[in-house]
Amino acid sequence: MMNNMEKEIKILAIESSCDETAAAVVVNGRDVRSNVISSQIDLHTLYGGVVPEIASRKHIEKINQVIEEALKKADMTLDDIDAIGVTYGPGLVGALLVGVAEAKAISFARNIPLIGVHHIEGHISANYIENKDLEPPFLCLVVSGGHTHLVRVADYGKYEILGKTRDDAAGEAFDKVARAIGLGYPGGPKIEKVSHEGNPDAIDFPRAKVADGVYDFSFSGLKSAVLNYLNGCRMKEIEINQADVAASFQKAVTDVLVGHAMNAIDEYKMDKFAIAGGVASNGTLRKAMEEACAKKGVKFYHPSPILCTDNAAMIGAAAYYDYLAGKRAGMDLNAVPNLRLGE
Ligand code: KG4
Ligand code: ZN
Repeated sequence: MMNNMEKEIKILAIESSCDETAAAVVVNGRDVRSNVISSQIDLHTLYGGVVPEIASRKHIEKINQVIEEALKKADMTLDDIDAIGVTYGPGLVGALLVGVAEAKAISFARNIPLIGVHHIEGHISANYIENKDLEPPFLCLVVSGGHTHLVRVADYGKYEILGKTRDDAAGEAFDKVARAIGLGYPGGPKIEKVSHEGNPDAIDFPRAKVADGVYDFSFSGLKSAVLNYLNGCRMKEIEINQADVAASFQKAVTDVLVGHAMNAIDEYKMDKFAIAGGVASNGTLRKAMEEACAKKGVKFYHPSPILCTDNAAMIGAAAYYDYLAGKRAGMDLNAVPNLRLGE
C-alpha cells in the first residue's frame, strides 16, 4: 500500500517509433490508468511491410486524438500530469519526430518536465507493469521487429548488453519467412497461428552460433535456409507444407533464444529472467522459456501480449524511473534513429 504522504507521479507517455501511434497515463511507473494504441498495421499490410513516409503521416493525423483519449480514459487533464515521457529512439526518424515534437510542444506550453525514453528501455520496463514484485537485477531478452538484445538490467536505467543480433532481428526473421511462405504481414502472429497445425520437427533448420560473440544472434542464415528449402521443394515439385515450415522455423528461433538466455543466466548467476518485445508474445517461445527457467529455479516474467508489442504504457513505466533519477530533457531533444541503449 502506498503511503498517503507519498506523492503520486503521473506520467503522460507517447510512443510513435514505428507503426503504432500510442499514448498512455501511468502512475508511479506501474499503475496504468490508460493505454491507447492506434495501429497502422492494416494500412501497411497493403504494402507487405511498414512504409516510413506513410507511418509519419499517419502519426501526425492520429497523435492529438490518441493523447486526448489517453487523458480522458485516465480521467485526467494536462493539469494533473507531472511529466511527459516520449520515445526518442531508436526507430524511424520521421515517425519518432512526430512524438518528440508533440511532447516538446506540450512540455513547453504547459511547463511540464520532459523525459526522453529509449524504446528498448520501454520494452524492458513493460515487465514492471503487471509484475509489481519485479525489481532489478534481472536478465531480459528483448525480441522485436527491430531488435534482438540480451540485456542485464543491473539497476533501473542501468543496462549491460550481453548480446545482440548481427543481422536480422528475430521479429524481422518471422516477417520475412512469413512473406516467403505466403502468409503476409505481420509475420509473427501468422506464423504462430499456422504452427499449431504443423510439426516442429518436420524440417531440421540450422541453429546458428556466432563464433566470437557468445551471446550474439544471427538469423539471416536461418532465413536463407528456409528460402533454400522452399526453392528445393519447388524444383523437385514437392508440395510445401506451410504449417510444417512455420512450426520448424519457429522452433529453430525458439531453441536459439532459449539456449542463449539460459547460458547467460548460468554465467551471470541470475535468478530472474524476463522477455519483452513483439516476439515475446509468441506462445511457443513463452512456454519454452517458462519450462527452461523452471528447471533452473529461475523466476520467469513476461508482459501480456498487448504490452509486448509497441505501446506507450511501457514508455510511461520507463519514464518514471528516469524521472526519479532526475533525468530531464530540454527543448533540444531530438529523434535519434539509431540511439544505443545506455546513452
Ligand atoms: O515490439 P514490436 O511491436 O515492434 C518493434 O519494436 O519492432 O514488434 C513487432 C514484431 C514484428 O516483427 C512481429 O512479427 C513480431 O513482433 N511479433 C511476433 C508475434 N507477435 C508480433 N513474432 C512472433 N510471434 C508472435 N505472436
Ligand atoms: Zn518495439
